[in-house]
Amino acid sequence: MESVYIGGKTPLYGEVTIQGSKNAALPIMAAALLVPGVSVLKNCPRIADVEYMCRILTHIGCQVCWRGKDLEIDASSLNTGQLPMEYVTRMRSSVMLMGPILGRLGEVELNHPGGCVIGDRPIDIHLKALRRLGVCCEDDGVGLRACSCGLCGTTITLDFPSVGATENVVMAAVAAKGVTCLKNAAEEPEIKWLCAFLQAAGAEIRKVENGNLLIIEGGRTLHPCCFEIPADRIVAGTYLCACLAAGGKIFLERHPRGENGALREIALCMGAKLRDTDKGLWVERTGELISPGMVETGSYPGFPTDLQSPLLVALSAARGESILRETIFNGRFRVVEELNRMGAEIQVRGNAAYIPGRKKLTGARVCAQELRGGAALVAAGLCAQGETVVQNRHYIDRGYEDICRDMRLLGAECR
Ligand code: EPZ
Repeated sequence: MESVYIGGKTPLYGEVTIQGSKNAALPIMAAALLVPGVSVLKNCPRIADVEYMCRILTHIGCQVCWRGKDLEIDASSLNTGQLPMEYVTRMRSSVMLMGPILGRLGEVELNHPGGCVIGDRPIDIHLKALRRLGVCCEDDGVGLRACSCGLCGTTITLDFPSVGATENVVMAAVAAKGVTCLKNAAEEPEIKWLCAFLQAAGAEIRKVENGNLLIIEGGRTLHPCCFEIPADRIVAGTYLCACLAAGGKIFLERHPRGENGALREIALCMGAKLRDTDKGLWVERTGELISPGMVETGSYPGFPTDLQSPLLVALSAARGESILRETIFNGRFRVVEELNRMGAEIQVRGNAAYIPGRKKLTGARVCAQELRGGAALVAAGLCAQGETVVQNRHYIDRGYEDICRDMRLLGAECR
C-alpha cells in the first residue's frame, strides 16, 4: 500500500490551485444519465471516486472519455440498471444513481453502497422519498431492487436534510411527470451546483429562498450541455486548516467564495488573517494560534463534518482547550487514535472530542483509515518534529487529486 512521507515541521508558504469538487462532480455525473447525449464536465477532478463512477457509467452502457481535465459522458446508449458490485460497494455516492436510472429505465439493481467507515450510513431517507415518487423498492439487506412504472411528482418532506437523498430526489423528480415540492432539502453548495447543471440541461428547478424548499417541474426534455465543475470547498478548507496548524502564508487559487463561511469565522477567531481577491483567498497565520473554544459540526451553513478531522489538527496546535462535537456521523473520530500516536492527547467521549491543545506533535508511522482523516494526518505531519509516514494513501486519493503535489506547492517536504 502506498504511503505519503512528510518531512516534518514547516510553516507553509506558496500558492495552490484548488481542484474541481468531488462532491459536486459525483452527483452531476449521475445527473448526466438524464441527458440523452453528450454532457461535458469541465475541470472534473481526477480522483479515485470519479474514476469508479466512470467505470460504473461505462458498465451500464455510457460512453465516457477524458479530454484533458474535461470529462465527456454520452448517456444516450444507457442500456441496463444492473450496477457492478465491484465499484458500487467502494463508494457511497453510487446510491445516487438510483434516481436518474429509474427516471431513464424504470428499474435499477445495486448492492448496498460502500464508502468510508465514518459511521452508520443507512439509505432509508433515500428509499422513503423514492417510494413517495412511485418507486417500489425491495431491500434484502445485501442488495436493492427498485422499479417504477412511471415516476409521479408529489410533495416530499425529508426526515433529515440528507445531501445524497436530496440529490437523488432532485434527479428522480426531474424525470417524473408533474411537480415535486421537496421540503427539508439539504442546502449544501453541491445541491445548488447539481441544480445548476440540470437547469443548464433544460430542467425547471426553483429554490424558495425563505427555506430549504425545492420545486422541481418534471417531465421536460433535457439537452446536452457543457458545465464547469466548481472548486472543491473541502479540499480548500483542508489546506486552510493545514496553514492554521503549521503557520505561514498561502494562496488558495479558485477558493470557492462564500462556501466556507463557518470555517472562515473559526479561522479568524483562532488568529488567522484572511483576504479575498478575485482569483482566490490569502490565508496567513504567523502569530499565536488560539483555541476557538467549542466547535460543532452541522448541516450547511454549519461547520462541515468533512472538515472536522483537518480542524482537529489545528485545534491540537492552538493555545487552550477545545471541544469539537460531531453531530452528523456517529463514527467520525477514527483519526484521533492516530493523532494521539503523534502526541495530540485528544480524548473522545460520546460525540465530542476534547483537545488539550498546545501539543508538540512527533512524527510517526500512522494509518489513514478514511478519506478526510487521512488528509488530516498529512496536515499533522506538517506540524510534527521528524518525519511522518501516512500509510493507506489510497483513502486520500479518493478525494484529493495529488495531496503531495499540493503540499509541495505550499512549501512542504512531501512525497
Ligand atoms: C455527503 O454524504 C458527502 N458525500 C459526504 O462527504 C458528507 O460528509 C455528507 O454529505 C454530509 O455533508 C458526497 O457528497 C459524495 P448525508 P451523504 O446523506 O449524502 C444520515 C466526503 O468526505 N442518513 O447528508 O452520504 C447519515 O447516516 C464525504 O467527501 C440517514 O440516516 O451524507 C448521516 O449520519 C464523507 N439515512 C447523515 O444522515 C439516509 O438515508 C448525513 O448523511 C441518508 C443519510
